[in-house]
Amino acid sequence: MHTCSSTRLRAGRTSLVTNHTSHCSPVLSAASVPHVLTTVAITNSKGGVGKTTIAFNLAHALVSFHNQKVLLVDADPHTSATAWASQRNGNRLPFNLIQGAHETLHRSLPAVAQEGRYDFVLVDCPAGVEKITRSALLVSDAVIVPVPPAALDFLGSASVVELLRDVVAVKPELRVMLAISRKPPRNRLRSKDARNSVLQFFAVDGASVLLLKTEINENEYLTRAPGEGKSIFEFKPRSNAAQEFNSLTEEVVECLRPREMAAG
Ligand SMILES: Nc1ncnc2c1ncn2[C@@H]1O[C@H](COP(=O)(O)OP(=O)(O)OP(=O)(O)O)[C@@H](O)[C@H]1O
Ligand SMILES: [Mg+2]
Repeated sequence: MHTCSSTRLRAGRTSLVTNHTSHCSPVLSAASVPHVLTTVAITNSKGGVGKTTIAFNLAHALVSFHNQKVLLVDADPHTSATAWASQRNGNRLPFNLIQGAHETLHRSLPAVAQEGRYDFVLVDCPAGVEKITRSALLVSDAVIVPVPPAALDFLGSASVVELLRDVVAVKPELRVMLAISRKPPRNRLRSKDARNSVLQFFAVDGASVLLLKTEINENEYLTRAPGEGKSIFEFKPRSNAAQEFNSLTEEVVECLRPREMAAG
C-alpha cells in the first residue's frame, strides 16, 4: 500500500458524522460506532480525461476490497455512468447509483447520504465548470482531478483550477488529489518532469494538493469494460489496469480514512 508523502493533505476534514455517539463511552458496540461519511467529487473541466472511468472503478473497488457502502452520484447531464451501468446483464451493481445532475446537490445530497448510511459518496462531475460542479465541491470532503500527463492537455483544465481556488478560499479543508490518467504508452515527457508540471499547474493556494503515486495508463480494457456494464475488476480482474485501480483505491483510502479503515 502506498503511504502519503510529505505533500499529503493535512489532518482534519469536514465529514458528515451520523449516528454520533460519545467517544468517551468505554464500550462501543458495532451499532454504536460513529458512522463517518466521506464525499469525494471526481472532476476536471476538461472532457474525456477519465472522470467517469475513475468514479465507476473506484466505487467498485471501495465495495469489493474495502467493504464500504458506496453511492455513486451521476452528476453529468450526459449520464455516462448511468449508461455504463445500463449495459449490465443480469447481476446488480455492487454499489448504488443515482442521477444527480443538479445545481443544488449541496443541499439535497447530505440527507440522501445520511439516510442510506453510506461510507463513501462519489460524485461523477460533468466536463466544463458548471454550477453542478461547484455544488458538488461544496458538499465534498475531497476532490480527485484526473489529469492526462501532457502539457497541452492542461489547457482545458484552467477553469477547474480557478474553481478549486474559489472553493478552497472558503473551504480550506477540501482535500485535493490529482491522479495521472490515460497515460499514453510511450509518454514523451519524462515521468518526473510530467509530475512536476502537473503539480505546478494545479497549485491551489491554501490547499494541500496531493499528486497520487498511482498512475492510470491508457488501457484498452478500460475502454471496453463500460460496453458490458462492468468495472475493470469484473471485466479483466488480472489486468494491469485492474492492478492500477486497486492501487489507486488503496492510496485514496489511506489518505482519506487512514485510521477508521485500517481498524477494519
Ligand atoms: N485509462 C484509460 N485507458 C483507456 N481508455 C480510457 C481510460 N480512461 C478512460 N478511457 C476511455 O476514454 C473515454 C473517456 O473516458 P471517461 O468517460 O471516463 O472520461 P470523462 O472525463 O468522464 O469524460 P466526460 O468529460 O465526457 O465526462 C471513454 O471511452 C473511456 O472508456
Ligand atoms: Mg464523464
